[in-house]
Amino acid sequence: MPESPRKFFVTTALPYANGPFHIGHVMEYIQADIWVRYQRMRGHEMHFVGADDTHGAPIMLQAEKEGITPKALVARIAATRPRVLDGFGISFDHWHSTDSPENVELSQDIYTRLKARGLIGSRAVEQFYDPVKAMFLPDRYVKGTCPVCGTKDQYGDACENCSSTYNATELIDPYSTLTGAKPELRTSEHLFFRLSDPEVANYLKRWTAEPSAGQALQPEVRNKVKEWLVDGELADWDISRDAPYFGIPIPDAPGKYFYVWLDAPIGYLASLKAHLAKTGTDFSTFLQDPALEQYHFIGKDIVYFHTLFWPAMLAFAGKPYRAPTNVYVHGFITFLNEKMSKSRGTGISPVTYLDLGLDPEWFRYYIATKLSDRVEDLDFNPDDFVARVNSDLVGKFVNIASRAATFITRHFNGELSLRAPDHAHFKERAGSTTVAWASRPLIEEAYAAREFGKVVREVMRVADRVNERFDAEKPWELARRDDAESRARLQDVCTDALNAFRALAYYLAPIAPSLATRATDLFNVPPNLLWDDIENVADRINPYTHLMTRVEAAKVDALIGVAAAAAAPAVATSAARPAAKAATTPAPAKDTPMEQTSPSTITIDDFAKVDLRIAKIVAAEHVDGADKLIKLTLDVGEAQPRTVFAGIKSAYKPEDLVGRLTPMVANLAPRKMKFGLSEGMVLAASGDGPGIFLLAPDTGAAPGMKVK
Ligand code: 2FM
Ligand code: ZN
Repeated sequence: MPESPRKFFVTTALPYANGPFHIGHVMEYIQADIWVRYQRMRGHEMHFVGADDTHGAPIMLQAEKEGITPKALVARIAATRPRVLDGFGISFDHWHSTDSPENVELSQDIYTRLKARGLIGSRAVEQFYDPVKAMFLPDRYVKGTCPVCGTKDQYGDACENCSSTYNATELIDPYSTLTGAKPELRTSEHLFFRLSDPEVANYLKRWTAEPSAGQALQPEVRNKVKEWLVDGELADWDISRDAPYFGIPIPDAPGKYFYVWLDAPIGYLASLKAHLAKTGTDFSTFLQDPALEQYHFIGKDIVYFHTLFWPAMLAFAGKPYRAPTNVYVHGFITFLNEKMSKSRGTGISPVTYLDLGLDPEWFRYYIATKLSDRVEDLDFNPDDFVARVNSDLVGKFVNIASRAATFITRHFNGELSLRAPDHAHFKERAGSTTVAWASRPLIEEAYAAREFGKVVREVMRVADRVNERFDAEKPWELARRDDAESRARLQDVCTDALNAFRALAYYLAPIAPSLATRATDLFNVPPNLLWDDIENVADRINPYTHLMTRVEAAKVDALIGVAAAAAAPAVATSAARPAAKAATTPAPAKDTPMEQTSPSTITIDDFAKVDLRIAKIVAAEHVDGADKLIKLTLDVGEAQPRTVFAGIKSAYKPEDLVGRLTPMVANLAPRKMKFGLSEGMVLAASGDGPGIFLLAPDTGAAPGMKVK
């Protein structure tokens, strides 16, 4: 039964317009884009928009440093956006700017309405002022000596040495990082959004408990919000900044501008408005449609703004504005389980990715394998990336078509059997096609819930079964026989595999849209696939053309370049480097059974190559500068203990590990890391949820014992 059409307004967080996209932006856009594409395939009305976040002191100061106007800087950055957005297949319906007439109008309107409701207050604020630059200094532009531990050159909000937090005004010997001048304390009148008003606080308690009928915040988000809202008390929010500032003027306060975080989310609406104008759709009517669903995809660092300030601003501004239907929060992308850091060279550049000619859909697929509706960090592991794409996407999914289509083209001139699109026929046969169709409810549920990892796992589970069935029929033997029965059987087997492949292509379409279009082109399906057509069956195919190449490890090496040298490898969890070996396994040749080369099985001789030993943890300590690592000293029954860096810091305290026994890979080539040499790998389990679980042998095992 087709669903009745829904109407969506979807956004991603607006990137600051003072730098190029980083991979974290692209990851978020891919997450939202997959969901958006799925909803479009379902036939729903979608309005997916983004924009540059252009205002604020950093952009103003950077432009000044470059000797250009902020508008020129923002325009230069805006010009770089389409390459990356188009390159990664992000299907925004519109991309706008917060430095736009729509945003000025909407920000001033929302402010004026909040003021009319008595929710804007004002009070004098004492703040550092740079007398040379003649401007008030945001905390990040003030440094000085930590008032707690005495360390020099600490920022105005927290000490990097002792982690104390304080007000900039408490710094000893403060100086402006812009001019080096000693800042003066000056007072200025600031405007505040009165979040402490009981009406606002009560509204937010209701909204965060149930943002809209039947919707809930993700549990991790809800808990965080509860800490702010229920266990604590909301302070009024300072929404004004004094000139000089690059921002939107506050209508009734000359020389004052909206703080960038006030006009940034309003930029979502500005972009929507500009998008609607292209089709002559009335913005106000559109927003007031009770059927409209409004979702914001954001990172975990900006939850406060989106679950408190933003719904309150919208709800109290009144019609046509309306609070979001829900906010979808994701974690950060890490590289080998470490935070990506530009200064340490451990980042992946989206532009470099495209420049190297890496297929964007490999990245989309890889990201999808790791996405769920949880607020968890997602790790980019180069070996895993190569393995997932080569072994799964190409080795399992594409492999079905490349083998089955070759027989159909060569032996049947493109004609499939079971020509009538008769579902009953397929169902009776309980073949691969039926198996693929049976996954549909699970896939639909997973897409709706943003559980894209589940989608991929289900598609690959089915692909495995399709390949197994295909191999079990030994089509290459059928093709060698000359009798009519074998010939008919060969045509049936290939037809069944291909119709299953067709359904899988639909399932993967939101994740890898170009691949899906090429795949369904084989069956003459026009682009812009519709979900309701999944169970159509084909009667003939076009000649098979290559659908997707494998990732070349050398290109990935070029992509990660410096990043790999600077970052720590993930040495601990079984999930972290599961497929390094599979990555180098050659592709199955056409017309050969999968079993011969499938990387998913190994021989006992392969397994015997891994020297697994029991190790005793004799010492464990934190590693300076590593967020995830613990340095382990292991007794493996050898003359000297071994050192292993294990990515288990999130799950264990070093002191709790000492004395434990655990299996380790003793013959893993030593790996030079920036923290020292890692001489093996301890084993731990991890799944899709949080947690890393170190393995332990039964009582009686001793250091050095072989595990087999
Ligand atoms: O954190 C950031 O990068 C902000 N530019 C996000 C703004 S999201 C929205 F409010 F515009
Ligand atoms: Zn300190």
